[in-house]
Amino acid sequence: MLMELFGLSRSNAPLFIESCDVIASAWLSDQFSRSKVDNAIEVLTDLFNCGSLRDGMLSKILMAHAKHGVLSFGEVLANSVLIMAAGQDTTANLIGSATASLLRHRDRNALESQCEIYSVVENVLEMNSPIQAVGRIAACDISLGSALIREGDAVLLFLGAANTEISRSQDAYQRRRHIAFGAGRHRCLGAGVARAIANAALKVIASEVWSGNLQCLSMFWHESPAIRGLARMHVSLG
Ligand code: HEM
Repeated sequence: MLMELFGLSRSNAPLFIESCDVIASAWLSDQFSRSKVDNAIEVLTDLFNCGSLRDGMLSKILMAHAKHGVLSFGEVLANSVLIMAAGQDTTANLIGSATASLLRHRDRNALESQCEIYSVVENVLEMNSPIQAVGRIAACDISLGSALIREGDAVLLFLGAANTEISRSQDAYQRRRHIAFGAGRHRCLGAGVARAIANAALKVIASEVWSGNLQCLSMFWHESPAIRGLARMHVSLG
């Protein structure tokens, strides 16, 4: 779906996914290769520059902004690469964790409708948020509880930990307000797209799990404290 938004043809899918994975490696470990990430950004930039990508809906919106002088062409490129990279691995991690959850609860009758699939997706967002932490540089001195954060300090915000707290709230309205997609002016641009992709994918995966066709042989989780999701899952089908 993300590739369709950019008008990307299926033949480019392996290149697109591989480049997004390389960019995501920078979040997964401090051992990432700078030159490989630069190269992946170049590949995505080239994909955007090749005519077909510009026919996508998202690309047309961005290009319209450039035409009216709101964004420079360089900014359109930077935003396109950001959207492609920010959306691909996060959504893949959401689908992976939700699949693991379906496999764990495969015998539960309660998980037998689209509505329940929606709950599985929301539950993973809340309890296993694909992005566990985001960073900020304090713009001014701020007191938080007993701590003083000084202007210029680097701060890590643990969204996953905050969600665990929120889930313990006595207030049912508060409990529905997880911050897996961030909050405020930088809240995730693609929250709706991510939910739509995950729900569509899970519908297909759930029918395979519930019919007994999909069996998990082994799963390996990312080890990064900032990203939660499956690095690999080996399955047998049929
Ligand atoms: C499950 C999937 C996803 C999760 C968990 C997720 C999570 C987040 C979070 C936590 C932020 C805030 C970052 C911060 O405050 O520093 C963010 C920002 C962003 N996300 Fe997502 N995201 C997902 C999918 C997507 C998709 C599918 C797209 C694009 C179609 C996307 C595009 C963006 C962009 C462009 C930003 C930056 C917004 C800004 O800085 O103003 N994300 N996302």
